[in-house]
Amino acid sequence: MQPTTAILIGAGDRGARAYAPYALDYPNELKIVAVAEPNDERRERIKVEHSLSEADCVSSWNEIFNMGKVADIAIICTMDRQHYEPTMKALQLGYHVLLEKPMSPDPKECIAMEKQAEKYNRQLTICHVLRYTEFWTAIRNIIAEGTIGDVASLQLNENVEAMHMSHSFVRGNWSNKEESSPMILQKSCHDMDIIRYVLDKKCERISSYGSLMHFRRENKPEGAPLYCLDGCPAEDSCPFHAGHYYLGEGRGWAKKFTEDTSNEGIINALYETDYGKCVYQLDNNVVDHQVVNMEFEDGATATFSMCGFTREQTRIVQIMGTKGEIRGKMDDNQISVYDFLTKQETIIKFNHPTGGHGGGDRGIMKDFLSDIKRTDKRESISSASASLDSHLMAFAAEESRLKKGTSIELDQFYNELSKEYTTS
Ligand SMILES: NC(=O)c1ccc[n+]([C@@H]2O[C@H](COP(=O)([O-])OP(=O)(O)OC[C@H]3O[C@@H](n4cnc5c(N)ncnc54)[C@H](O)[C@@H]3O)[C@@H](O)[C@H]2O)c1
Repeated sequence: MQPTTAILIGAGDRGARAYAPYALDYPNELKIVAVAEPNDERRERIKVEHSLSEADCVSSWNEIFNMGKVADIAIICTMDRQHYEPTMKALQLGYHVLLEKPMSPDPKECIAMEKQAEKYNRQLTICHVLRYTEFWTAIRNIIAEGTIGDVASLQLNENVEAMHMSHSFVRGNWSNKEESSPMILQKSCHDMDIIRYVLDKKCERISSYGSLMHFRRENKPEGAPLYCLDGCPAEDSCPFHAGHYYLGEGRGWAKKFTEDTSNEGIINALYETDYGKCVYQLDNNVVDHQVVNMEFEDGATATFSMCGFTREQTRIVQIMGTKGEIRGKMDDNQISVYDFLTKQETIIKFNHPTGGHGGGDRGIMKDFLSDIKRTDKRESISSASASLDSHLMAFAAEESRLKKGTSIELDQFYNELSKEYTTS
């Protein structure tokens, strides 16, 4: 059987590292036939790795769409504010689309994309990769089977990890919500989505608090220069010193901003990008901690806490049902299920995941490639409509946070957005 063919739009970290390698690992299933990427080095890498001709490597999505429909699917991995336009166009041309999350920072664009997929009868799958991990799939199944009775409450902690916080959300791509999206959408749309997915219930109301507490100008150490490498007096007392981090244990993160990861290459890049700047002197404005409260249709509640000041980068969940409890930490790759009647604890261990996000990056591609061949019109596990639902939870949480914790009714929130929505 011929492999599914794909165009890749955006060959950055996600496009080139999370999804394109699938075509190299499973050439019988997927073949990249063209790429759109403005960065010369990144475009060239895809060209070489996937043996593309010069003509099939262009610098923008407009050019790739000018070729007409040249493949079965479009994998869209541009930045958050560059999702809407190429997705609308790709669907119109007849591509099935695998789109990175968040769908868009604008809720009305999310609604429009869902409608576009419906209009052109195409699969639009959003990369909520956690849905494809063994960890969360098992939790969802245990709840669905009634093993822990009716869920009364769920707690989820997203531990971002302090250096990851400084890298991505203070110095990096997602530090400024006007340029990318608010933290609850960018980072924690996964969490809103997975809560919605495992409970399999509609969220009715939501409230939220949170702020940017630490990475602010007033916390700048006395005399700190703009670039950490320019002799910062706080060099030995600041955990976020760029030189110590990126030339030391954070060397792996350096490949996100330079292709040259020699010491010299990293030092040059630290001066050419924001990654070398003092974390207290940037234009970041996304929150460094946020909590969200949710109430679901049958009265079940959930609380979520995202915090940038944690030792580990992981998610920890506790789900309390009327007959038992589930606990799990994603990093441990196992869950515990406790039965109130028998007092028995069952530990379920999962296979060591292959690939990023607990195996979710690979899992979503595998599922997507099979979904597009289905004839029964079943939507994918992470379809645009399923994703729209959990994105709306994130948008509502952000609205609540901005209104100092006012509770938002989700039906009303959606109805007001849909009223404003007009088809273009
Ligand atoms: N699913 C997940 O868990 C997950 C994890 C991290 C990031 N993301 C999301 O993935 C998306 C991409 O993130 P990333 O880390 O790969 O960012 P990135 O900056 O590394 O990659 C984006 C790429 O898009 C390219 N680009 C810009 N304009 C373009 C155009 N007109 N045509 C084609 N390409 C263009 C850029 O040059 C860049 O290489 C973001 O929306 C991000 O929020 C998802």
